[in-house]
Amino acid sequence: MSTHTEQVFPPRITTRTVVDMKIRGEKISMLTAYDYTMARIIDQAGIDIILVGDSASNVMAGHETTLPITLEQMIYHTTCVVRGVERSLIIADLPFMSYQVTDTGALESAGRMMKEAGAHGVKLEGGRTVVPAIRKIVDAGIPVMGHLGLTPQSIYKFGTYRVRATDEKEANELLTDAVLLQEAGCFALVLEKIPAPLAEKVTRKLDIPTIGIGAGQVCDGQVLVTHDMLGLNKEFSPRFLRRYADMHTIMTDSVKRYHSDVKNGLFPNKEEQYG
Ligand code: KIV
Repeated sequence: MSTHTEQVFPPRITTRTVVDMKIRGEKISMLTAYDYTMARIIDQAGIDIILVGDSASNVMAGHETTLPITLEQMIYHTTCVVRGVERSLIIADLPFMSYQVTDTGALESAGRMMKEAGAHGVKLEGGRTVVPAIRKIVDAGIPVMGHLGLTPQSIYKFGTYRVRATDEKEANELLTDAVLLQEAGCFALVLEKIPAPLAEKVTRKLDIPTIGIGAGQVCDGQVLVTHDMLGLNKEFSPRFLRRYADMHTIMTDSVKRYHSDVKNGLFPNKEEQYG
């Protein structure tokens, strides 16, 4: 008889699981993580997909845009996340210029993310122009999540973070791109900051799940940047963001109390020392 108590772990979330969730009408939850501790909390809280987003460039490294983060840095963040996760599906962003130059280069970047970092799939931004790269990556057995609407890696092309596809031409292009991404083999699609009625149209047209951020409630799933939804970041306040905590205040108060206790000789006390 085994001396170990048998533990029953919930099964791992796979790309198949999230497609099945769409079929069943079960909503998909996704949050970002860039390190072991946060990934562990998010995984244990039951989130379906953890995105190692290139938003790490903003929230971890303090850059103004997502452009500077490198493939090496994304691989590092992803390895940290992978070590903290038992159940969630882990998707890693391919950073700017790691997939746009050649399709072979795109496959090499995706391959490194899987082999060196242990991601379960990759995400990349763009529509028809990235279809050949997506085909090459999917053909190698690597799951790809697409990303349409506001695509932060193209910020200097668009010049603004405003809502995308508000006119008919851009809306039609986005709808066409969504179908092309599905045909290219994407297993899911992020829709960022587009009008809710357009997101609904895309969601109803596609067999693969849509995951919205600022794209309304009809999307098959939702994603937020964890630092934003935890209220760690006071400056970023878009309409779509719901803050589930005010961690900025909680952390600031805790740090101030610690500072004051140290200065006043109140930390450590007798119980917090040895011998
Ligand atoms: O990098 C990121 O965090 C993202 C989400 C906003 C979808 O791409």
